[in-house]
Amino acid sequence: MKLFEKFEALAATREHLLAMGPLPFGVVTERILSPTEGIVEGRRTILAGTNNYLGLTFDPACIEAGRQALTDEGTGTTGSRMANGTYAGHRALEEEIAAFYDRRHAIVFTTGFAASMGMVAALAGPDDVLLIDADSHASIYDGCRLSGAEIIRFRHNNPEDLAKRLRRLGERAARTLVVSEGLFSMLGDQAPLEEIVAVKDEYGAALLLDEAHSMGVFGERGRGLAEARGVEDGVDFVVGTFSKSLGSVGGFCVSKHPQLEIVRMASRAYIFTASPTPSIVASTRAALRLIRARPELRTRLWENARRLYAGLAECGFELGPEPGPVVAVFVDDPERAIRSWHRLLDAGVYVNLVIPPATPDNRALLRCSISAAHTPAQIDHIVEAFANLDAAAGAVAGTA
Ligand SMILES: Cc1ncc(COP(=O)(O)O)c(C=O)c1O
Repeated sequence: MKLFEKFEALAATREHLLAMGPLPFGVVTERILSPTEGIVEGRRTILAGTNNYLGLTFDPACIEAGRQALTDEGTGTTGSRMANGTYAGHRALEEEIAAFYDRRHAIVFTTGFAASMGMVAALAGPDDVLLIDADSHASIYDGCRLSGAEIIRFRHNNPEDLAKRLRRLGERAARTLVVSEGLFSMLGDQAPLEEIVAVKDEYGAALLLDEAHSMGVFGERGRGLAEARGVEDGVDFVVGTFSKSLGSVGGFCVSKHPQLEIVRMASRAYIFTASPTPSIVASTRAALRLIRARPELRTRLWENARRLYAGLAECGFELGPEPGPVVAVFVDDPERAIRSWHRLLDAGVYVNLVIPPATPDNRALLRCSISAAHTPAQIDHIVEAFANLDAAAGAVAGTA
């Protein structure tokens, strides 16, 4: 079929890579044992690529809330809120997420992808400009395409480049939505938010911040990087996901702007998809309470993150620029990355294999994400598995 012709190059790459062994799409976790362990391809394996930052997926309160909602309200809503109406749980979750962020307005989406894509696509229109960090997540890029706005990229984490581009826009800067992430998901680097907020204020632009990987991770209350840097007032729209620190699935946008209620009627990713299921809503609400009630989870997460970063740095690996819950190990050559990824699996460690074009600068990564639920012994096991890689085969390029 002619339609498949465009996939030929991809299919050839896949064949070539599959000759080295299974790829992540084909690896099955046969049993999930805990937030940090599973049986993968028949072997007990430490899960070090889950984004389960606070380890809440097996929390008894979250499970019980989900179970109760499943019993009381059924398995699904079977439609969108526009068509089928809003359940009390949707409304309560929106009120609670708004209160958590100390913003007046919140919209809950069915996934995090829908939240960032749907907000970017709805906020900017054909007369507007989207000025986005070059390393933005796919959901932001897809939102840009759907918006019809002019799309301009600024250099990753570079406020000077952002300022230069806003200056060039002149009066159009006032119709510009700047988009950045808090913690970037691939390299684990943090946006220079103080500078970004100062620049967008100087030129009168608006800012949307995707805190998907920062919620629950940064800030005294766990609200994200904007809280930690003291610039929450300068962020017009925060979008995020329930699928990482909150251990469920879904997304949200919060804002101080009352017009968010109008955006609800303009965002196709919100209007034309089934609303989150009652059990997901209930588990998410329980997890949100835990972020507030258990700050020690955040402390433990950071202890684990620093332990892993220090251990891998000591082994001589080239890592992402700063310690944090995402620790990226650079590998120059995708084939080496795949071989190393298989060896890690053999050693009972699952990390994320990230190969171009999904990576910044087209370099391959072995991406680890850390959980508060990892034990120090598990972190040491991960470090040891990486260290043995290097010793056994020089498998990871970029090592000292
Ligand atoms: C920055 C960013 N935004 C949005 C998403 C999408 O979130 P979800 O997977 O919950 O749909 C992700 C997922 O990894 C992400 O990293």
